[in-house]
Amino acid sequence: MNTKASAPDLSSLWMPFTANKQFKQHPRFLVSAKGMYYTNASGQRILDGTSGLWCVNAGHGRQEIIEAISRQAAQLDYAPGFQMGHEGAFEAAAAVARIMPQGLDRIFFTNSGSESVDTALKIALAYHQSRGEGRRTRLIGRERGYHGVGFGGISVGGIKSNRKMFSGALLPAIDHLSHTHSLSHNAFSRGQPTWGAHLADQLEALIDLHDASTIAAVIVEPMAGSTGVLLPPKGYLEKLRAITQKHGILLIFDEVITAFGRLGAATASACFGVVPDLITLAKGISNASVPCGAVAVRREIHDTIINATPEGIELFHGYTYSGHPLAMAAVLATLDIYEREKLFDRARTMAPSFEVAAHGLKDTRHVVDIRNLGLVAGIELDPRPGAPGARAAEVFQACFDQGILLRYTGDTIAISPPLIIEQDQIERIFTTIGAVLKKLT
Ligand SMILES: Cc1ncc(COP(=O)(O)O)c(C=O)c1O
Repeated sequence: MNTKASAPDLSSLWMPFTANKQFKQHPRFLVSAKGMYYTNASGQRILDGTSGLWCVNAGHGRQEIIEAISRQAAQLDYAPGFQMGHEGAFEAAAAVARIMPQGLDRIFFTNSGSESVDTALKIALAYHQSRGEGRRTRLIGRERGYHGVGFGGISVGGIKSNRKMFSGALLPAIDHLSHTHSLSHNAFSRGQPTWGAHLADQLEALIDLHDASTIAAVIVEPMAGSTGVLLPPKGYLEKLRAITQKHGILLIFDEVITAFGRLGAATASACFGVVPDLITLAKGISNASVPCGAVAVRREIHDTIINATPEGIELFHGYTYSGHPLAMAAVLATLDIYEREKLFDRARTMAPSFEVAAHGLKDTRHVVDIRNLGLVAGIELDPRPGAPGARAAEVFQACFDQGILLRYTGDTIAISPPLIIEQDQIERIFTTIGAVLKKLT
């Protein structure tokens, strides 16, 4: 029997992507959230410098979303998504399609970014199968790519620690492009770095090796967030697009982090002016209020799969909670806020002063790179000899103690606040990081 004491027993919960033993010795509890702030267990307000986990783009506790979810729960708590519909799912799909790049107007709902990635990879395989090119099964990802934790996602993903324990069971026909991060060429770039477009040519080499007739899709994050804010070099995505198009290979942009305003536009695709064939979505789609993800699919891909099966189920794929009524209510209310408050434009308007504040730390101790675009910045630190990652972890803890929530990966600190952030809050974040860095050994 579980009992609830005033101080909770921490032993039952196995926490995700967490150093469980350390956390349980020094727990950090959040108890409420509103606007730009969390409140912790001792009543301290914590400025949210990371939109939760890159997902609360409209800020916390939005009344319109709370009301939409509550109304929906009272009216229709759940409806099966298989062979059954409810209006909210169709309305939400149309609303998402309206802000996707032209042509990507067929929407498949999932519950998370990981599910969106695996769904997109399966749709790519199904598409080639449906048009009589079933030999196209190879998938190409990129080093330092993060595509969630499904077997598809970790196979195309390029984070060693996420793959190592499962290496024997990863998908078989996978390749990786090199990542595009280079301190020697691109340190302290503002916006897209200039060096590195040629790295996309590696795709031609892989095509030469395997033959285009065996390759289904290339998947990349247009801007890699989780491995430390890696921006695409100028011309790089354009090259990937041209090469994939030339060889009949699908291009998937994983926009789980970048969509819904992070870069000052609805999608990174719109920001960079490069349109892929599929876009994976999650996080900001519902302002993180109810778990939700989606894949936006080029209409021709959808039609090819749908028309290949004259009768019956066309795609044997879906989730019990695809198009869950509460998630759909949250998506509609969230997209409404983005539009009404013009939050994507706001992110673009705030971006220059965010950039100035971030790069103001250039000559601060330990800083070896600062990179930014829209409302995201990465500050890379020189690793402490013999203890990689320790400096960023200490900055994270010290800033949290001073009431600011950040993220860190390796020795890079990531800042990605809600799009409603004000100027004084931007300044507070970077001033606090600067003060912490000056004292750091
Ligand atoms: C680019 C990208 N893809 C996929 C995912 C996985 O999303 P989820 O944690 O919702 O499964 C993430 C999560 O951060 C991500 O950044």
